[in-house]
Amino acid sequence: PRILIIAGGLTHERDVSVRSGRRVANVLHQAGHEVRVCDLDASLLPTLEEWSPDVVWPLVHGSIGEDGSLQALLESLGVPFVGSHSVQAMMASNKPTAKGLLASAGVSTPAWLSLPQSLFRQLGATAVLQALDPRLTFPVVVKPTDGGSALGISRADGTEALRSAMVDAFAYGERVMIEQFVGGTEIAVSILDLEDGPAPLPPIEIVTDDGSYNYDARYTTDTTQYFVPARLDAALTSAVTQAAVQVHQVLGLRHLSRIDFIVDSEGSVWFIDANVAPGMTDTSLFPQAAEAAGSFADTCRRIVAFAAS
Ligand code: DAL
Repeated sequence: PRILIIAGGLTHERDVSVRSGRRVANVLHQAGHEVRVCDLDASLLPTLEEWSPDVVWPLVHGSIGEDGSLQALLESLGVPFVGSHSVQAMMASNKPTAKGLLASAGVSTPAWLSLPQSLFRQLGATAVLQALDPRLTFPVVVKPTDGGSALGISRADGTEALRSAMVDAFAYGERVMIEQFVGGTEIAVSILDLEDGPAPLPPIEIVTDDGSYNYDARYTTDTTQYFVPARLDAALTSAVTQAAVQVHQVLGLRHLSRIDFIVDSEGSVWFIDANVAPGMTDTSLFPQAAEAAGSFADTCRRIVAFAAS
């Protein structure tokens, strides 16, 4: 098929998206497909009209790319595209919404609260925790509710740190989530959901220098270690991969996703985040998992063939 990849966009993850788009374009081009990469700007509609691709692969990370907006545009134009539908993308990429849906389906996820900037200004950091949710105790993790690549995320061990963590997170969006910190091993499970339904790729264990898989640990250092498959015993491997399939299904995701967890020292599996447009850069997790299962290039070919059919 003739494939249009949309990458870039005006999000904080623009650079990551450009790298993801380039990598997927290269493997599909080498496989003999006609591929174009287009930015998420005014050139998109003319390109869709003039070039008339068989399938579009939206690889824009963060806000417009993952919150369903771009997917809604493609749906309204009737263009087949890779990945989740707009409503599911919106629900999965908003962290508190996804956690609420999953908690009500029985999936374990750390306690959380989310609040808009106006309420933070009104109450202040201490009152936020006390007034809104007595279940939360320090340390907590503060995150923008939308967006990825760990941008704007920090851990707070006390009130002063909470205040500055919240100010940092609000730089990335109007809503922030405060989540109970859970220590343990970071595990990412990529899901491929094609002809045979959702199936997990080998889980990946992430080990960073300081225990924080932040933006630098993802994209700028070469000291982050990835273990593929994760060093979990058979029972935990099965628990985490089953949980990932359940998350993908409960959120109604399509074609592919990456579900991130923490496995604590007691072997409990905690859902942290669902990604509808997982990174595809050289250091990203989905391509590593696909390589471990066979071949990233083959996986990309299968995804576009299925999405175009
Ligand atoms: N948001 C980045 C791209 C990821 O999760 O892979």
